[in-house]
Amino acid sequence: MSLSREQMLVEMGISPIWVLRDSSPPASAPEAVPEAEAITATAATPQITEAPTAPAQPQAHQPRPPATAVDALDWPALARQVAECRACPLCEQRKQAVLGVGDTSPEWLFIGEGPGAEEDVKGEPFVGQAGKLLDNMLASLDIARGNRVYIANAVKCRPPGNRTPEAAEMAACWPYLERQIALLKPRVIVLLGKAAVHAVLHDDKALASLRGKRFEFAGIPVVVTYHPAYLLRNLPDKAKAWEDLLFARRTLREQMTPELPF
Ligand code: URA
Repeated sequence: MSLSREQMLVEMGISPIWVLRDSSPPASAPEAVPEAEAITATAATPQITEAPTAPAQPQAHQPRPPATAVDALDWPALARQVAECRACPLCEQRKQAVLGVGDTSPEWLFIGEGPGAEEDVKGEPFVGQAGKLLDNMLASLDIARGNRVYIANAVKCRPPGNRTPEAAEMAACWPYLERQIALLKPRVIVLLGKAAVHAVLHDDKALASLRGKRFEFAGIPVVVTYHPAYLLRNLPDKAKAWEDLLFARRTLREQMTPELPF
C-alpha cells in the first residue's frame, strides 16, 4: 500500500500542523539548536550478571569475547556471535536474538531500545505497533526499511515483559552495537528514546533536554528523539518528533554536501 505524503503525516498524527519543508532551517524553530556538542563515548565495561536462580546450566552466561575481538568481526561472524550470545541474563528467555535490519550501507541508522514480543518471534526489530509508526516516520522522510536506512536496538534480546533494558544488559550488548555502527558507517544516527541515548551517548538526562542538539559518536552526527512506543502514548509529542526528524535530515544533508573550496 502506498500512502501519499499527506496521508503519512495524518498517520503520524501531525497533519495539518506540520508540512514538509525544503532543507532550509525553519524561520523560528520552537527549540534552539545549540552548537555541536561532542560526546566521546567509550565502550562501557560489560558486567556479566549471574542468573539468580538458574539451575546448574552448563550453557549459563558466558563472558562475551572482549570488545576488541568483536571489533574484528565481519557481518556473518557478528550475526553468528549475536545469535549465540549468552553474555547477560536476557539470553535466558529470548526466542532469538534480533541483530537489526536494513541497508548495510545506509545514510540513516535508527537505534531503539530492544526487541518486544513480536520482534522476538519474527527476529526483526520494530515489527509491532511502534514499528508501524516508525515505518510511517521513515516514509515521511522518503526512506523505507531496507533502503538507505538500518534499524537496530540497544539490546539484541527481548527484556522480559518488555521492560526497559538494564544498564548492565546494555553494557554487555554494547560491543555488538558499536561494531554495527563501525560496519554500517551511517551518515547520521537517530536515537529513539532514553535507552538508546544511554547506550550510545552514556547520557541519562531527560530526553526533552537532549532534543535539537547535534551529538557525535565516532565522528558520526547523532540526534535524539522520542521512542515510537512513547509517541503512541503521547500523541501531541509526535509534532516534536517530526521536528527532530527534520533536524536529523538537515544534519544528514550537511554531511552529504561536499565542502566548497572557497
Ligand atoms: N521497540 C524497540 O525499541 N525496538 C524494537 O525492535 C521494537 C520495539
